[in-house]
Amino acid sequence: MEETIKLLTEAFGPSGEEETVRSLIKELIKGKVDRIFEDDLGNLFVLRDGPSPKLMVSAHMDEIGIIVTHIDDNGFLRLAPVGGVSPHLLPGQRLRFRDGVTGTVYYEKIKEWKELEWSKLYLDIGQSDAEGAGRMVSIGDPACLDQPFKVLQGGRYMAKAMDDRVGCAVLVEVINSLPEQLPQAVCFVFSVQEELGLRGARTAAYRYEPDYGLAVDVTLVGDTPKAQTMAVSLGRGPTVKVKDSSVFCHPLVRKQMIETAEKHEIPYQLEVLERGGTDAGAIHISREGVPSGAISIPCRYVHTSSEMVDSSDVNYAVAFLKKLLIRQWPSVEENNYG
Ligand code: CO
Ligand code: ZN
Repeated sequence: MEETIKLLTEAFGPSGEEETVRSLIKELIKGKVDRIFEDDLGNLFVLRDGPSPKLMVSAHMDEIGIIVTHIDDNGFLRLAPVGGVSPHLLPGQRLRFRDGVTGTVYYEKIKEWKELEWSKLYLDIGQSDAEGAGRMVSIGDPACLDQPFKVLQGGRYMAKAMDDRVGCAVLVEVINSLPEQLPQAVCFVFSVQEELGLRGARTAAYRYEPDYGLAVDVTLVGDTPKAQTMAVSLGRGPTVKVKDSSVFCHPLVRKQMIETAEKHEIPYQLEVLERGGTDAGAIHISREGVPSGAISIPCRYVHTSSEMVDSSDVNYAVAFLKKLLIRQWPSVEENNYG
C-alpha cells in the first residue's frame, strides 16, 4: 500500500494532464478486472461484472497545480492556479513540469503579506532571458508541486497530491483484493478534472448510469491548532460523508455505510465538510438522480505540498470499501423511488 501511495502521489498530474497517473493505475490493476476502457475526456473505467444494481465508485486522478501565463524578458514565468491553490502557500515551493523542468516560486516586494496575489508571484527556472526560458516552457504548460512522499515516524504519510491519489490507491487495493464473484456490478472510475469542478465524474456517471454512487476522496480535519471547528480527526477512521458543498449524501447510502462499518467494527467518523466538494457531487445529479455517498480519508494541509494522512485511516478505508462492495445493495425497485 505504501509503495502504491508513493508511486501515485509522486506522479505528475495536474487537472487535464492525467496520462501518467492513468498509465500507472492500469499497470497496478493488471489482470484483475473484467473490462477496462477510457472515455474521450480521459476518465478510466474499470468494470467488475455482476447482477444489478450497478455501483459506481469514483476517485479523482488529477491534482491541483499551476499554469504558465507569461514569460518575461529575464526568463521569469508568471502563473495562474489550476484548482484551489492559495498564492500564500507557494513562495519557496518547487514546481515541476511534465518533462522534469523544475523551478522555485518567489514574489515581488510587498508591504503586507495580504498583498500577495497571483500577480506578485513568479517562477524562476534558472534561465536568464525569455529565449532560454521559452526553450524549456511554453505559455499554457501546467506544473505540479514537487515534493517526495515521506513516511513519518508513527505511521503517518506526507506527500503532495494525497488529494486524491490516496483515494486512487484505495481503489487499486480494493480492485486487487475483491473476490471472484460480486453480488452486484461495480464500475471503478478514476476520474479527471475534479479540482476544476467535478468535470470527469459528471460524464462518467452519465455514461455508466449507476444505481448508486460512491466517491473516495480526502476531507479536511478540525484537529490542528485553532483549526476550523470540525468533528473529524486524523487516525480515528475514514468518514461517512453527510454533506459538503457539492452533495447532501443520500440517507439510504449513508445507512448502508453506517450499518456496514458497525457490523465489521470499522471505526468511522461522520463528516460535515462546510467548504469543498467531491465526485459524489456530480454523480448524484446525473440523469434522473443517483443516490450517492462518500468515504473520505481525513487529511491535514489539503492543497499544499505536504498533505498528511494517517496510515490506519487509509487501511480502514480499504477494508470499509471492500465490505461495502461485497454486501448486497438493495435493488432499485425495492427503493420505491421510481
Ligand atoms: Co482537492
Ligand atoms: Zn479531492
